[in-house]
Amino acid sequence: MSSAAPMKHYLQFSDFTAEEYHYLFERAAIIKAKFKNYEKHHPLTDRTLAMIFEKASTRTRVSFEAGMYQLGGSVVHLTTGDSQLGRAEPIEDSAKVISRMVDLVMIRTFEQEKIERFAANSRVPVINGLTNEFHPCQILADIFTFIERRGSIAGKTVAWVGDGNNMANTWLQAAALLDFRVHVSTPRGYEIDEKLAVGPGGARAGSYQVFDDPKEACRDADLVTTDVWTSMGYEAENEERRRAFADWCVDSAMMAAARPEALFMHCLPAHRGEEVTAEVIDGPQSVVWDEAENRMHVQKALMEYLLLGRVA
Ligand code: CP
Ligand code: NVA
Repeated sequence: MSSAAPMKHYLQFSDFTAEEYHYLFERAAIIKAKFKNYEKHHPLTDRTLAMIFEKASTRTRVSFEAGMYQLGGSVVHLTTGDSQLGRAEPIEDSAKVISRMVDLVMIRTFEQEKIERFAANSRVPVINGLTNEFHPCQILADIFTFIERRGSIAGKTVAWVGDGNNMANTWLQAAALLDFRVHVSTPRGYEIDEKLAVGPGGARAGSYQVFDDPKEACRDADLVTTDVWTSMGYEAENEERRRAFADWCVDSAMMAAARPEALFMHCLPAHRGEEVTAEVIDGPQSVVWDEAENRMHVQKALMEYLLLGRVA
């Protein structure tokens, strides 16, 4: 990146413009093709990524770690339990120290406010690897997966069935930016928080619509997607949520209400028999394994962009 280019963080989906997303999707396709051809792509030689996990992870850890090595760089892995973060060192102090030694930081934590405080004190770009409020890297991968299978997502309809959680909020931000619609159906008491979903850029009129009946939300959708009933950090509500979410299980009847060529996505990990039936997640419309793999390809494009700017 030229020294004049301002440093960017990726803390929520609305941090980038539609134009930046178009670039990232094209770049991710190029980077993925190189990976598939065993072609070396080392733009980040000698660069280091610090990954900070305050919650569990499989995909985020493996995709960032493998991705950074594939770009020629290296990684440092920290968790709350094995760092001073777990012993109440202020997040601001942690940010000042860590960002003097590495080139890029990825954080998975609880409140969005925490990652914002880290970023405000960081000398290097910070990436949101999931907070209670948002999961932008996942939606980046999901939209890239949609584009690979079906072309542009503009004008399409995505059905969100389930919790008004970090994934739902991020889908809504993406819809406002990339010109598609989201049909949202959540149980009562678990609705989306419009203030979060629209982000600082503001909502685009008509980018989403709320449905009481999850099957109605799926009607004519191009993509049906869901997530766990209980997200990390909300485990104390597990039993209450099981009761409230019983009718928000994506099944064949919901998929039949969607368009015949509709895809099914889930960020994983999934609970078969809860938010989705085995028939749907393991069925022909499901693209969950591509979605998981694509985390790595899009995040490689993201890390390259944050450190080097546009390279093509
Ligand atoms: N989808 C996702 O972020 O998975 P992990 O929790 O395994 O990282
Ligand atoms: N909504 C889920 C996503 C996990 C990848 C959670 O926050 O636990």
